[in-house]
Amino acid sequence: KHRLVILISGRGSNMKAILEAVKKKEIPHTRVVGVISDNPDAEGLTIARRYGVRALYLSAAPYKTKLEGPAEEVYIRTIKRMKPDLIVLAGFMRVVKPRFIQSFPNKIINIHPSLLPAYPGLHTHERVLAAGEKESGCTVHFVNEKVDGGKRIIQARVQVLPGDTPQTLAARVLEKEHKILPYAIRLLLEKKISYDSLVEPIQWGEEWKF
Ligand code: GAR
Repeated sequence: KHRLVILISGRGSNMKAILEAVKKKEIPHTRVVGVISDNPDAEGLTIARRYGVRALYLSAAPYKTKLEGPAEEVYIRTIKRMKPDLIVLAGFMRVVKPRFIQSFPNKIINIHPSLLPAYPGLHTHERVLAAGEKESGCTVHFVNEKVDGGKRIIQARVQVLPGDTPQTLAARVLEKEHKILPYAIRLLLEKKISYDSLVEPIQWGEEWKF
């Protein structure tokens, strides 16, 4: 079976979408071998355990926004022992650094709530609305040393609607995240796409069904 490790920081709704897709065999022949959170109170830890998945809290202190130093070593060692085929950052709210990235070459992907390369970083929905964009969306991409700057795998678009708040826009984008992340994982694990084969990101359309 393919082995997946998922990193989270909070709610874990993207992680849950992956666990559901694995359970329904929409991502076939795959086991989630570990969920790791940098936050002991992450709701996602509870959800993962409900699915029977090993879920652990690993402190990333003393840093607040990055994974570096001795904690980074602990993450690397722990994940290596899990022998993952793919590592998914699903709402993991820390910047990962070269040592971590180079420990798992071309095996780390991330979901980001914007149409990258537009709006990398935090507070994307606020910035999209402030700029008066007509469209937003989400992107699954490989993780490299540039924050939200790695090769893009798949994107989904949503309309920005009159009266949108960061919350309403986030909810519309999140629905698409829950579709493209499991789909990207499936394509990668089944080797339908690879780091080297990707040129332009796949555009999600409603015809993309499992
Ligand atoms: C998601 O919207 C994800 O795209 C975003 O955080 C949310 C996590 O929700 N990630 C980032 O902003 C990464 N910088 P979830 O915990 O319910 O999956």
